[in-house]
Amino acid sequence: MQLGRSIYIETYGCQMNMADTEVVLSIMRDAGYTRTNLLTQADIVLINTCAVRENAEQRVIGRLGDFYHYKKANPNVIIGILGCMVERIRKDLMESEDFVDIIVGPDEYRKLPALVEAAKKGEAVRLSRVEKYDDIVPLRTGNLSAWIAIMRGCDNFCTYCVVPFTRGRERSRSQTNILKEIEALRNQNFKEVTLLGQNVNSYWDGTHDFSDLLSSIVDLNRNLRIRFMTSHPQDMSDKLIATIALRSNICKYVHLPVQSGSDRILKLMNRKYSVKYYLNLVHKIREAIPEISLSTDIITGFPTETEDDHKQTMDLLQAVGYDGAYTFKYSPRKRTKAWSMSDDVPDEVKNRRLDEIINIQRSISLHRNRKMIGQIMKVLVEGASKKSNVDLCGRTDTNKMVIFPKNGNVAGDYINVRIERANSATLFGTQVHVFNQSPVLTTRES
Ligand code: SAH
Ligand code: SF4
Ligand code: F3S
Repeated sequence: MQLGRSIYIETYGCQMNMADTEVVLSIMRDAGYTRTNLLTQADIVLINTCAVRENAEQRVIGRLGDFYHYKKANPNVIIGILGCMVERIRKDLMESEDFVDIIVGPDEYRKLPALVEAAKKGEAVRLSRVEKYDDIVPLRTGNLSAWIAIMRGCDNFCTYCVVPFTRGRERSRSQTNILKEIEALRNQNFKEVTLLGQNVNSYWDGTHDFSDLLSSIVDLNRNLRIRFMTSHPQDMSDKLIATIALRSNICKYVHLPVQSGSDRILKLMNRKYSVKYYLNLVHKIREAIPEISLSTDIITGFPTETEDDHKQTMDLLQAVGYDGAYTFKYSPRKRTKAWSMSDDVPDEVKNRRLDEIINIQRSISLHRNRKMIGQIMKVLVEGASKKSNVDLCGRTDTNKMVIFPKNGNVAGDYINVRIERANSATLFGTQVHVFNQSPVLTTRES
């Protein structure tokens, strides 16, 4: 390792940010830097931040306190703040965190080596807003499953959301470059790829839409499991549903955030669909792909949300029967449209509604997972189980976590597991050997 050239980086927020960290590491590696997992060995400490909710920012601010002490004890260390918080509150950060040397937003990472070399404060530069990092191959941190950001930014302007402000306008990478990256992953023996975008199903590179991209990836590599997120309900076309149904190595799992079950609230959120449209969409997806697993995001306590609106969200959860839900308390963000609406649902009401939603979803997930008992599922082994050293864990095509005895298997193996037990989050089973069946991955179209 070269002296003065080791980087420690912490990442907060969504998978997009995780993928960006790999882009940053690739840019820095090309400039001669090496990654370290130990803060105490770092010459450069970077924190890739999230701004989506107040508590996400609070966690970062807390961590910056630790870095402040580290910098005091090691004055030569360079500290950098990256990511979405920079776009939201760059000026505030520059003033309040004056021990920080570098402050760069998500579209400015190419400048990092120069800024680090100079070891000086990043200046508040104009954003190009067109950065796609199309030519940069991320420095992957794993060797089994890879993220590929296929687009950046978002044009939807949901009224609560800061992402269009932190990540700018939507832009897609070229299909050609994405396929090149997939080819490289195949050569490195990766088993799974997750295509990422804030609104992945509105991918459009000027010639190809998201279904075209998925089909080309399948044609290129039929042994790769393909996942994608996040899908917006308004962009879930019939063509896309048919593509997922037809191609067996496209995973049968869609994260399809609904946010609320009340049409009135959806309108205030600028989500552009109704509950009726959404339920019809779920029906279409289930008809085409019966085994599909669905998850959602829900926000509780959006301005003016009444008990009746909340009840409609609970009813929607029951009506859809999601496999999982990510639930959030509404957090007002400056610059968004909802910021000017009053945050009028008291915190204790938000908390109570959140608890009710979590509880109802837990029982739905439990019910759905228990239905898997007795079934044989194909699992991609990911590694050791966190809770037991005699077990491994892996995921089904439908994104369910499964725990099973090791039995000589290693990460990257595909095995068949008979499900014996389930809780709301995890399935448990043992490996079975199934004869006279098609290979683990087949394509229905072939
Ligand atoms: N692009 C994705 C996800 C964006 S952020 C999508 O449209 O679904 C992930 C989730 O955070 C959102 O789906 C939403 O449920 C939640 N979220 C975003 N802004 C929020 C806010 N101000 N308060 C609470 N939750 C929020
Ligand atoms: Fe935010 Fe809406 Fe864009 Fe998702 S679609 S990133 S929630 S503005
Ligand atoms: Fe957070 Fe930025 Fe992702 S605000 S959720 S890290 S796009």
